[in-house]
Amino acid sequence: MMTETIDPDRQVSSFVEETLAFAPVFEEFGIDYCCGGDVPLAVACEAADADIDAVQARLREVQENADDESFEWDSLAELSDHIVSAHHDRLREELPTLEALVHKVTKVHSEDHPELESVEREFVALAEEMQTHIVEEEEDLFPIARKIDDGESLTDDETRTIEREIEGFEDDHEATAERLERLADLTNGYAVPEGACASYRSMIERLEELERDTHLHVHKENNVLFPAVESAFDADA
Ligand SMILES: [Fe+2]
Ligand SMILES: [Fe+2]
Repeated sequence: MMTETIDPDRQVSSFVEETLAFAPVFEEFGIDYCCGGDVPLAVACEAADADIDAVQARLREVQENADDESFEWDSLAELSDHIVSAHHDRLREELPTLEALVHKVTKVHSEDHPELESVEREFVALAEEMQTHIVEEEEDLFPIARKIDDGESLTDDETRTIEREIEGFEDDHEATAERLERLADLTNGYAVPEGACASYRSMIERLEELERDTHLHVHKENNVLFPAVESAFDADA
């Protein structure tokens, strides 16, 4: 039987750092492990209005049954490449076609579902912000991560710029999280209305998947990549 205890004082993000298999549990209970993941489990459960005993039980279950899904990276370059291929490339593919679908569903169904007009507005803004954001990360931050790997030293100017940029990226992540929350509210927690057509259903499923993937994506940046880049500066100083 289960022997390992789940420490209520342990920082939420550290679970997902250990293995990605914990992420779905936090999704299930609506617990933020990416932007607000730097708090103890007990505090996060309270904020999400989740029963801590139930959360601990699910985490224990995962701990015992999960195949190891820890994501390994040997260098900042590898981590950056992973983020690009697993998340950025996927967004570049997904956002434009999902946007077309959102427009289509809104046009056809907004009479019966007036909230779709807000979904459309929110999504268009989100897609635009995310597309700009990932390009900025790739152009401004990831090349610096590669430089650090190569042992090149950075000028003070570069260090200051990057520190400012990381702060900006973290602010973007917060804004994205807020938009996703609004989308979840508007769609009643990504509920498919009764009698919805295949397009409507697909739109809802893809929005929910976008939320799930963005949480993971932001976690890897806020809780793994950014601190690693920052600690390289500290070691340099
Ligand atoms: Fe990113
Ligand atoms: Fe990001």
